Amino acid sequence: MGIMATKRFPLFLFTISAILLNIIFTACQGHSPVPEKHVSPLFVFGDSIFDPGNNNYINTIVKANYYPYGETFFKYPTGRFSDGRIIPDFIAEYAKLPLIPPYLQPGNHEFSYGVNFASAGSGALVESNQGMTIDLGTQFRYFKNVTRELKQKLGDEKAKVLLSRAVYMISIGSNDYVFPFTINSTVLQSYSPPEFVRLVAGNITSVIQEIYKIGGRKFGFVNLWPLACVPYLRVIDVEKYGACFDQITPYIQLHNKEISKLLPKLQNELKGFKYSLLDFYSLIKARMDDPSKYGFKEGTAACCGSGPYRGILSCGGKRGVTEYYLCDNPSEYVFFDSGHLTDRAYEQFSEQAWSGKPSFAGPCNLKALFAFN
Ligand SMILES: *[C@@H]1O[C@H](CO)[C@@H](O)[C@H](O)[C@H]1NC(C)=O
Ligand SMILES: *[C@@H]1O[C@H](CO)[C@@H](O)[C@H](O)[C@H]1NC(C)=O
Ligand SMILES: *[C@@H]1O[C@H](CO)[C@@H](O)[C@H](O)[C@H]1NC(C)=O
Repeated sequence: MGIMATKRFPLFLFTISAILLNIIFTACQGHSPVPEKHVSPLFVFGDSIFDPGNNNYINTIVKANYYPYGETFFKYPTGRFSDGRIIPDFIAEYAKLPLIPPYLQPGNHEFSYGVNFASAGSGALVESNQGMTIDLGTQFRYFKNVTRELKQKLGDEKAKVLLSRAVYMISIGSNDYVFPFTINSTVLQSYSPPEFVRLVAGNITSVIQEIYKIGGRKFGFVNLWPLACVPYLRVIDVEKYGACFDQITPYIQLHNKEISKLLPKLQNELKGFKYSLLDFYSLIKARMDDPSKYGFKEGTAACCGSGPYRGILSCGGKRGVTEYYLCDNPSEYVFFDSGHLTDRAYEQFSEQAWSGKPSFAGPCNLKALFAFN
């Protein structure tokens, strides 16, 4: 009896620790790393945070294809809402991929490194900025078209391998919550905040499941910013002009909570599903609260625009208001225009997304996701 007990006890402990280790490792550990010659392509979906210029090719006022957009890095306006690069540009560089082009750029049929479908102004709901942008569902239909072309070109088997090895980055949701407060408030009237958030999250879930069905396994997400104090949101309430727009905060908090519950749930349900969630909210908030700690001089006002905190979207002078302020050195700022970040800020977030700790980019960071076979 004595012998049995001492034998059993360590075995039991061993089993428990093996189970625990297994849980930790399956959250973010590889089988074999991708062989050198095999690259993981990058497919990108979402809004202006990820749009490399798709809106240049649609009929919309939501464009950034004029000076001073692009002035720092590309030296010409590419359509990116930034003075330079955006997160997918840095991630492509870190993953040793070429710059991932906008899907709508004419003549582009090389999809084996991936392609970018993101469109400024878009949301998960079709209604958000409808007619001015490419909503998430339409972006997915474009992606389906791309998978058809890949199958024709490479054959079913090779296309399947490529699609399962690819990383799918998605930034969506901000416009779904901003739109009702800026353009059409009747949208919110028939829903409580939790109901509305479920609608948005439900549509995001559908698109993830569809990509999974087509063979996608590795997903990179970003959560929503502390939008209330973003310059653009400070000028929408005329009575509290310049103050943070706190009405939006419950939606943002509910959304971020919903997404952080949704992703582990999908990982449990969908075999082989792996993800990275960047805590964009905390990373931006830290820089807005204490810019100098991260090498910025200004964390709350934008470099380019007009009005309080340069919250009026007049950067470039092409949207009705022709006079605007432009700072000398965008890299001293977190925000470039009223609602978007500088090259310098995006670089810091990209570094976190790529190789950050699980508390900022978890359970996997993108570097680990790219390395999975
Ligand atoms: C889908 O792909 C076909 C070629 O396979 C192309 O002719 C068509 O324009 C594409 N449609 C969209 C919406 O991208
Ligand atoms: C506002 O949204 C509601 C509900 O989605 C819709 O029925 C209505 O047509 C929209 N109004 C405008 C002016 O877009
Ligand atoms: C997606 O959004 C639409 C409104 O655009 C809504 O009617 C639908 O129920 C949502 N889908 C899910 C799965 O939540």
